[in-house]
Amino acid sequence: MAIKIEHLTHIYNEGMPFEKKALDDINIDVAKGEFIGIIGHTGSGKSTLIQMFNGLLKPTSGNVIINGRDIHGNGVNKKEVRQQVGLVFQYPEYQLFEMTVYEDVAFGPKNLGLSEEEIKARVEYGCKAVGLDESYYAKSPFELSGGQKRRVAIAGVLAMNPNILILDEPTAGLDPKGRNELFVQLKKMHEELGLTIVLISHSMEDVARYVDRLLVLYKGKKAYEGTPREVFAHGIELEKIGLLCHRLDIL
Ligand SMILES: Nc1ncnc2c1ncn2[C@@H]1O[C@H](COP(=O)(O)OP(=O)(O)OP(=O)(O)O)[C@@H](O)[C@H]1O
Ligand SMILES: [Mg+2]
Repeated sequence: MAIKIEHLTHIYNEGMPFEKKALDDINIDVAKGEFIGIIGHTGSGKSTLIQMFNGLLKPTSGNVIINGRDIHGNGVNKKEVRQQVGLVFQYPEYQLFEMTVYEDVAFGPKNLGLSEEEIKARVEYGCKAVGLDESYYAKSPFELSGGQKRRVAIAGVLAMNPNILILDEPTAGLDPKGRNELFVQLKKMHEELGLTIVLISHSMEDVARYVDRLLVLYKGKKAYEGTPREVFAHGIELEKIGLLCHRLDIL
C-alpha cells in the first residue's frame, strides 16, 4: 500500500473558541500505482488531508502510513518522507523564482547535494515527464503560459524522484484547453512512470475521466468512494450536496 490513513482526525486550534474539525475519522487506502481523485467543496478538508500525506501536518489523532511506515513513528526521517511524497501545491507557479526553467527544476536536486551530472539527469526526467523538451531549459519561467508554468512546477517536484505525487487542484485557473492538456499529460505520466498519483479537484466532471478511483469528502468526512462509475451511481445524493451539476455522458 502506498498510502494508508487510519482513523485520521484533525482539529485546527483545538481548545480555542474558534476550533475547527477539518477532518473527521478518515480511513483511506491508496494502492501502489493507483491514480485517485479527491473531490469536495471548498472547506471540505482536501488540502488539510493531503498535507498529512507527507507529514507537513501532524494529525490530532490517527495514523499516516506511507509505503508501509508510520511517518510519525519513532526514528522516521521526515525529510525522507517528503522526498518519497512529492506535493504540488495549488498555484505552484507562484513558487517559481529562478531565471530559467532549468534552474528552477534543478533547485530541489541541488539542495540534495547531488552531482551536476545527477542534477541534469533529474531535470531531464522531470521535464520529459511533463512534456517540456530541451528548448524550454533556457527560457524564463515567467515568459511561459499558465499551463506551461504549472508543468515547470510539477517537473521540479518530480525531479526529487518521488514515488507518490500529490497535486492540489493542478488545473485551477487554466482554460479548458490547458486543463485538458494537463490532465492528459498527468495520465500519461502515471502510466509511463508507474507513479501513485493523488489529485485534488473541485470538479467531478474533470477528474472522472482520468482517475481509477474517486473519493468524495464532505464536511471533513469521507462521503463516497469507488470507481467513477460507482460514485456517480450516487448521483442524486451528490446533486444534493452540490457536487454534480449535470448528468455525465462519459460513463
Ligand atoms: N491553518 C488553518 N487554521 C484554521 N483553520 C483552517 C486552517 N486551514 C484550513 N482550515 C479550515 O479547515 C477546513 C478545511 O480546510 P481545507 O483548506 O482543508 O479545505 P479544502 O477542501 O482544501 O478547501 P478549498 O477547496 O477551498 O481549497 C476549513 O473550514 C478551513 O477554514
Ligand atoms: Mg484546498
